Amino acid sequence: MDKETEEDRKGDNSDEEKQNISPESSDIEDSGMERLRKFLTQKLRLIDSSDDQSDESQQGTLRELTLDGVIDYIKEHGNCKIITMAGAGISTSAGIPDFRSPSSGLYHKLDKYNLPHPQAIFELEFFMKNPEPFFTLARELLPEGFKPTISHYFIRLLWEKGLLLRHYTQNIDTLERVAGLPADKLVEAHGTFHTGRCLKCRAPYTLPWMKEKIIEGVIPKCEECEEGVVKPDIVFFGEMLPERFHLLAGRDFAQADLLIIMGSSLVVQPFASLVDRVRNNCPRLLINNEKVGMQDRLSRFLGLRQGLVFDSRSAHSGRDVAWLGDCDTGCQLLADKLGWGDELRALVQREHESLSAESGGEK
Ligand code: OAD
Repeated sequence: MDKETEEDRKGDNSDEEKQNISPESSDIEDSGMERLRKFLTQKLRLIDSSDDQSDESQQGTLRELTLDGVIDYIKEHGNCKIITMAGAGISTSAGIPDFRSPSSGLYHKLDKYNLPHPQAIFELEFFMKNPEPFFTLARELLPEGFKPTISHYFIRLLWEKGLLLRHYTQNIDTLERVAGLPADKLVEAHGTFHTGRCLKCRAPYTLPWMKEKIIEGVIPKCEECEEGVVKPDIVFFGEMLPERFHLLAGRDFAQADLLIIMGSSLVVQPFASLVDRVRNNCPRLLINNEKVGMQDRLSRFLGLRQGLVFDSRSAHSGRDVAWLGDCDTGCQLLADKLGWGDELRALVQREHESLSAESGGEK
């Protein structure tokens, strides 16, 4: 409950005539602030946390709001079902830039493409008129020679330990696949470079075919209809997310016992709002350079169950933890505290050596 609402309730409690009515119903219905909140909630069709019967059970899910609290929770839940959500921050240590970090982010380095605005490079409407900037950039972004990071292998370890319900990624770099995560555990919410399609006749193409054209500096044109441009199956702004995303998100999030979010600014929808789809008592751990995805002031005022809450004064406190720093360091620390530290280090070393051997001894 937020502060304003609590004060309102206190005011109503002083009314003698209401003493025989339970505080939950009388106070909420009679408070002007609550009526306004309910009205706005209904009009806006948003999730109202005060209507959720399980709301009270959200308190006390973690012994303490720290990484250690999360570790104890995992250890106590023998079969903890964990969902991981990731963004570009889990791949930066592999050498792939993220999008929005000041100076190093991709959106701060696109001047040479003369775009109307940085995100235009991933907008379908712009791409249809002018695909060249995207393909020029694609040469730099092609998933080739990059090695998965400690964070990727930590997610794989969660799977090997039987704890991973699903991994939802916004990344198109395919590093989760390279790290050995099986396809059924993976939801590539923003698509992938792995396959492509003609925008006109929908003929499918493979990554090696597209790669050849992109490296040559040629815009890939469809060999079937000889007209359409072949676009990698990356979800552009203006396109629908894959059906698999909607189908599995609808099932998975209600079952999760723990949500771990890593390396994302949580600003792109609908991915960002997945954090609201776990149960009210499901702890959420953010591992990121900065706090992101936090509940905004309007949602807070309206008492809505939206966004992460790292402030213990709020109604939705008691389950969100922010560990601020580098994803790889955070994942290694988690693994260490879970007793899997050496296993993770050995896995990374073994896999990196084998990837180097495959690519002819590159480090
Ligand atoms: P962003 O660049 O928006 O956010 C990356 C987040 O990770 C930021 O909060 C960084 O501070 C943090 N970060 C970066 N490196 C890190 C590291 N080594 N350790 C910890 N944190 C780190 O990337 P996304 O959230 O993935 O969509 O962006 C979402 C979507 O926006 C992308 O999928 C892409 C883009 O437009 C499309 O292309 C459709």
